[in-house]
Amino acid sequence: MEEVTRVADEGLLLVGINRPARKNALTSAMYVELAEALAAAERDDSIRAVVVHGTESAFCAGNDIGDFANPRSIEGERPSVRFMKSVIGLGKPLLAAVNGPAVGIGATMLLHCDLVFAGTTAKLAFPFSKLGLCPEFASSLVLPVTLGYQRAAELLLLGDAVDAAAAQSLGLVNAVLPPEEVLQHAVAVGRRLCAASAPSLRAIKSLMRGDSETYLRRMDRENEEFARLLETPHAKEAFKTFLMPRPSTVSSSQTHA
Ligand code: COA
Repeated sequence: MEEVTRVADEGLLLVGINRPARKNALTSAMYVELAEALAAAERDDSIRAVVVHGTESAFCAGNDIGDFANPRSIEGERPSVRFMKSVIGLGKPLLAAVNGPAVGIGATMLLHCDLVFAGTTAKLAFPFSKLGLCPEFASSLVLPVTLGYQRAAELLLLGDAVDAAAAQSLGLVNAVLPPEEVLQHAVAVGRRLCAASAPSLRAIKSLMRGDSETYLRRMDRENEEFARLLETPHAKEAFKTFLMPRPSTVSSSQTHA
């Protein structure tokens, strides 16, 4: 089964995150595939908009915590960084269809999507502090600007999940829909964007987002802190606790971190 799927249809590319047994947590190989899908979409003039989606039970549970616990040495740019840069570098509209949990990078990637549609089951969480880590994907920059400092601090310092309605009232989500309608709604809006002037959409997106260097510089700072924190006892303990076998009755409404 492919863990990252790509379906192109009349100018709209659907990119699926598809590892439901792990709530779509991202491995290095998946980051590489996602980065390649987005970079290819940027190069391909026939693709005019991209929708990223997960599966029924989850959008994305963030980085695979097993990979955090057992990091492998990687030559060159880390796949997660490559993925983040491919999102930042996409000049075409990027839409997200979110059902279930969107955690860690599953939530921070939404901050770089142009339109986010969420099912009533969606929950966004930035649990970096619970894991002894720090924010990534320039979320330490984007969240305070988007929400105001205190609301961003609440999400990032406490790390608690917010449901779809709260995410919408914070301005992180455009619309909340019944779960079974989220993807089709994102596709319908994506099709409207495919019919619009591509140069106009590119210019609007670029003007609204401003200089991508600002994001990249913040990501460099975050990544340095993140790498340092990954090695701390608090983080190692948090990964160990998460990876311990758990009784199957654990509530699905909370993050475990
Ligand atoms: N990395 C590795 N495995 C993960 C994972 C992750 N980020 N998220 C979920 N899984 C695994 C679980 O360990 C579990 O495996 P098991 O079936 O072998 O026990 C399986 O996916 C299902 O997850 P579960 O926790 O049982 O589902 P849930 O519906 O109760 O909760 C989440 C879903 C996403 C809220 C919860 O799994 C979670 O908090 N995940 C961690 C998110 C996180 O902290 N990500 C990193 C942020 S930096």
